[in-house]
Amino acid sequence: MSSPVLFTIFGASGDLAKRKLYPSLFRLYKAGHLADNFAVIGTARRPWTKEFFESIVIESLGVLPNNPRQAHEFASHFYYQSHDVNDSEHYIALKNLQNELGERYKTEHNKVFFLSMAPEFFGTIAKHLKSEHIVDGKGFERLIIEKPFGTSLETAEILNAELAHTFEEDQIYRIDHYLGKEMVQNIFAVRFANIIFEHIWNRDFIDNVQITFAESIGVEDRGGYYDHSGALKDMIQNHALQVLSILAMDKPASFNESDVRAEKIKVFQNLKQQTDEEIKRNFIRGQYAAGSIDGKDYVAYLDEPNITEGSQTETFAGGVFFVDTDRFRDVPFFFRTGKRLTEKGTRVTIVFKKAADIFGQHAEQNILTIYIQPTEGFSLFINGKEVGSTFTLTPAKLSWRHNADALGNSPEAYEKLFYDVLNGDSTNFSHWEEVKASWTFIDQVVRIWQDNAVPLHTYSAGTMGPQAIFDLLESYGTDWQWKPDNWYRERGLLK
Ligand code: BG6
Repeated sequence: MSSPVLFTIFGASGDLAKRKLYPSLFRLYKAGHLADNFAVIGTARRPWTKEFFESIVIESLGVLPNNPRQAHEFASHFYYQSHDVNDSEHYIALKNLQNELGERYKTEHNKVFFLSMAPEFFGTIAKHLKSEHIVDGKGFERLIIEKPFGTSLETAEILNAELAHTFEEDQIYRIDHYLGKEMVQNIFAVRFANIIFEHIWNRDFIDNVQITFAESIGVEDRGGYYDHSGALKDMIQNHALQVLSILAMDKPASFNESDVRAEKIKVFQNLKQQTDEEIKRNFIRGQYAAGSIDGKDYVAYLDEPNITEGSQTETFAGGVFFVDTDRFRDVPFFFRTGKRLTEKGTRVTIVFKKAADIFGQHAEQNILTIYIQPTEGFSLFINGKEVGSTFTLTPAKLSWRHNADALGNSPEAYEKLFYDVLNGDSTNFSHWEEVKASWTFIDQVVRIWQDNAVPLHTYSAGTMGPQAIFDLLESYGTDWQWKPDNWYRERGLLK
């Protein structure tokens, strides 16, 4: 079914729009979720013509269209309006174009606004959308915004108040693109559609949980942004905590948006507050030094473009959270993320408690791994018996795993998220209460790190982070299950 809707994209000339938004809208179009009754207004400061904008949109689609006609038909729905977000006059022009296109495409006053720009402009845009009656209470009106949602609790609250001037909470869709990922959504299926896991998903059976968001890329051309953010705010405050909330939540009363959300919020609100001393021990920060992997040399973070001299920004953040619920009290949720790690890999490992020895044989812990990217799937280690006349236990790996890119059937995260917005379903978006609770926790870590109360460790590019993150798990009597660096090291590929 297709939805009549008018999209307005602020920041239409930006990288995100080209890389993600236009291709995702196109995939929805191809799948029939957008048909004749949709139009897109792109705005940015540059003085582009409609023809030029269409050519940019078509170029961004790459090989997705089945034929050039399809691409042109799609792009014909795109209109461009040069726009200065601070200039009230420009919103009048926008309103006129909105009215004109609304009539032409019969969009039934349904509007989706996507702010693909720096958050400092969000407040001004939201204010004008209301004062110039672009948001007019007719049809559905939804606002999509990108991270970062604030840089601290205080700034997030200011931002939220600015948006609340024009939009109700249920009209605001805060994107966390990890929530649109196939395998993140699959965690619900693994947990709640399998009787073998559903009843053991708790502190009686789970020893610890390990969440890895590893990236092999460095900061690339984003030094200007990244140097003011760092790994903790860039990845943990949002993506990692969102994934953690799905892993740790109780079973919702039903799988509708409000019940799922209520359970997620409960996890955020029950993130155990740690004392300053505990944070100093439990949270590790690092920055990459030069390194070499697989014959390629990489420069140190400090030598990347647009990085402040002597920057203390962390490119690695790791540590342990606890969730103070009956289900998970005292179970460590270890996490790590970083740039220039050994390889790109997002995965969650659930380490179950040790089983008793049998016939004098030591049983290995059962381990469930959820592969989020770049491969998607699951694996489960179970103990079996070695073939032969003696009774010797041997671990067997049950594995279902595929390469998402190769199959090409996993929808883009943004495509799924747009689809949800069109359907008014905000299950896979960050709610204000979640954002608020996560900043409350993260602010404390930031304060301690800013005081330089703990060392900023260095790690060589190509490794899985500073030694301290391995020592941390050792101090809890465990170890990281996933060690790609060892694989490279053993083959002499990691210097
Ligand atoms: C973004 C961060 O939110 O997520 C980036 O700002 C990071 O620094 C990216 O590279 C990772 O996303 P993905 O989908 O490539 O794992």
